[in-house]
Amino acid sequence: MLEGKTVLLGITGSIAAYKAAALASALKKERCNVHVLMTRNAMEFISPRTFDTLTEHRTLFDTFDRSFEYNVEHIALAKQADLVMIAPATANVLAKLANGIADDMLTTTVLACRCPKLAAPAMNTGMYENPATQANLERLRVFGWEIVEPAEGLLACGDVGLGKMPEPEQLLERIKACLLGGERRRDMEGIRVLVTAGPTQEAIDPVRYITNYSTGKMGYSIAEAAAKRGAVVTLVTGKTSLKTSASLERIDVVSAQDMFDAVTSRSAQQDIIIKAAAVADYRPAEVANDKLKKKDGEMFISLVRNPDILQYLGEHRPKGQYLCGFSMETKDMVENSRKKLEKKKIQMIAANNLKESGAGFGVDTNVLTLITKERKQELPLLSKDAVSDILLDEILKHRAEIDE
Ligand code: CTP
Repeated sequence: MLEGKTVLLGITGSIAAYKAAALASALKKERCNVHVLMTRNAMEFISPRTFDTLTEHRTLFDTFDRSFEYNVEHIALAKQADLVMIAPATANVLAKLANGIADDMLTTTVLACRCPKLAAPAMNTGMYENPATQANLERLRVFGWEIVEPAEGLLACGDVGLGKMPEPEQLLERIKACLLGGERRRDMEGIRVLVTAGPTQEAIDPVRYITNYSTGKMGYSIAEAAAKRGAVVTLVTGKTSLKTSASLERIDVVSAQDMFDAVTSRSAQQDIIIKAAAVADYRPAEVANDKLKKKDGEMFISLVRNPDILQYLGEHRPKGQYLCGFSMETKDMVENSRKKLEKKKIQMIAANNLKESGAGFGVDTNVLTLITKERKQELPLLSKDAVSDILLDEILKHRAEIDE
C-alpha cells in the first residue's frame, strides 16, 4: 500500500526502541522506502545494523559522515521524505524538536523536513505528565505535529501508568492514515453501513425525560469515516448537537422505540451495522399528557423495558451481514462485553471502560478493546477519528475472514 512513499523513521533513546525494528519491517512489507535516523542514545538500546538490514539503507546517526550518497545527506533526505515518524520519542528529543534545536543527525534532518510529522512519545509517566513535556507536546501540535498518544500499562521502570509506546501495528495504521488519506478511504465503495449514535430520550411528561451522557461523537466519527471511504452510510441518531456532512443520510430519532423502528425498517439492506448509540434500557411505563405537578412526599416513576435493538438485529441477521455493538462498562469490561457478544449474537463488540481517562462520553478520544469470538485487541488512547478508521479496518478484515 505504501509503494513509492518515503518514511523517515527517527529512533531515540528509549527501551521501546526495540519495537521500532518491527515497525521498520512492517513498513518495508508495505513496500515503503524507509530511512532510519538514530540518536546516539538509541544506539545503546538497539544496533543501527538491525535497521541497515531491515530497510536496505544505511542507518544515519552521524551528521558529519560524508560517505553517503549525497553530500548534504540530511537535506537530501528531508526533501525526499513523505512523512517523518519519531518512534519512540523521548522527552529530551521532543523538547529539542519543540524548540528547533538541531544538534545531531536526527534533529537536524527533521528540522529541515516540510512533510507531515508524527511522534510517539515513550517514557515514564512522571516524565510524560511533567508540565514541561506537556508544554513541548502542545507546542509541537501547534507546529502541526501529530502526537500518537502513549498507552497505559506496565512500563520498563516497573511503574504502571501512561507512557508506553503503542504497538508497531498501531503506529503503522497512523502512518497509513496520514500518508494515504483519501486514497485509502475509498476501500468501502458500495458497502452499505448503518451507524447509530447518541443518546435516546425517554419522555416522562411534556417537560421531562430520562437520558444519558452520550454526545454522539464516536458514532458520528465512524459514520463520517465510512462515508469518506466510499460506503453508503445511514446514520440513525438520537438528539445531539453535532452536524453531519452531506455525504451521508441522517435519520433523527428521539426514543429507543423510535430508534428500533428506524433501524429495523432499514436493517435488511445493510452490509454492516455499527451500534454506537447509548440506548436507554428502560422507559417510563406511561408518558403523562400534561406536566406532572409536584406533591408532598416521595415520587416514583415506574419503568418498563425497551426493546434491545442490537439483540433483535442479531436474532434476525441475514447471512453476510456484519454486526458490531459497543459496550460501555465501569467494571469487568472484557467479561461483560464477551457476554453481550454472545447474547446478542453479534460479530464484534467494541468495549470501553468509562472509568479510564480519555475514554467514554463527551471526549474526543477513546480507548477501545475490540472483542470477537476469536480475538481481543486492545487499542491505545487515540482520537475518535483515528479509532473510527481502525475499527472499520478491523471490521472489514474480520468480515472477510469469517464470511458468515
Ligand atoms: N443496545 C441496543 N438496544 C438497547 C440497549 C443496548 O441496541 N435497548 C446496544 C447498544 O447500542 C450497544 C450495545 O447494545 O451497541 C451494548 O449496550 P450497553 O448499554 O453497553 O449494554 P446493555 O446490553 O444495555 O447491557 P447492560 O445495560 O446490562 O450493561
